[in-house]
Amino acid sequence: MTRLALIALDGPSGVGKSTTAKRVAQQLGWDYLDTGAMYRAAALALRRAGIDLDDRPGLERVLAGLRIQQRGIREFLGDEDVSEAIRTPEITRMVTPVSADARVREVLVDQQRRIGGQGGWVVDGRDIGTVVFPDACCKIFLTASVEARAGRRFKELRDKGVPLPLAEVAADLQRRDLADSTRAVSPLCKAADAVELDSSGMALAEVVDWIVGRHRAHPK
Ligand code: DC
Repeated sequence: MTRLALIALDGPSGVGKSTTAKRVAQQLGWDYLDTGAMYRAAALALRRAGIDLDDRPGLERVLAGLRIQQRGIREFLGDEDVSEAIRTPEITRMVTPVSADARVREVLVDQQRRIGGQGGWVVDGRDIGTVVFPDACCKIFLTASVEARAGRRFKELRDKGVPLPLAEVAADLQRRDLADSTRAVSPLCKAADAVELDSSGMALAEVVDWIVGRHRAHPK
């Protein structure tokens, strides 16, 4: 099989995939695609249209008019920069069922393949190595313990001035892990040919160096 020059970076919520993917892309001179942001933008579009997932004609209409674009590291819905609007707690709750919908996934996966299909991308998500780009030359499944992920997310939120109790942050991550890994369509799971990296005790720079090193050692 001809391998696509693309790094598929999958793993659970809060493991630091997007920060890692951005830095790996910078080091390689590649582009970076945040597929989670695309599902979040779709959830925001549905929220704004007042459409829920049971309304199939409404869903089809919103999906047909969906214009999601990543420019640099900013996410756009039409011409509007929605980078902040897609990160609210409400959208974070809503995106779980939206991203489990087969029709939503069909539309966004198609778009992701059109964006990354020529290679030269670092793509982060849940199903990149299993479904979106099964021919990616480098597949990383990034994990960390719930404690390590909750600790990092807790500090991030505190630094942003929106502190939440650690137990609540951990419970939210566990809820999302369960939903993402047990859904019927494209559940979060490690591709058979992915390498797993447990980043629990690692600094960000170490994780980035490990992935870049792995890619350079196995470029095809
Ligand atoms: O990585 P994130 O938290 O921004 O992702 C938002 C949601 O989208 C999350 O519930 C998982 C889901 N997602 C997905 O199902 N498939 C992807 N490729 C990326 C994200």
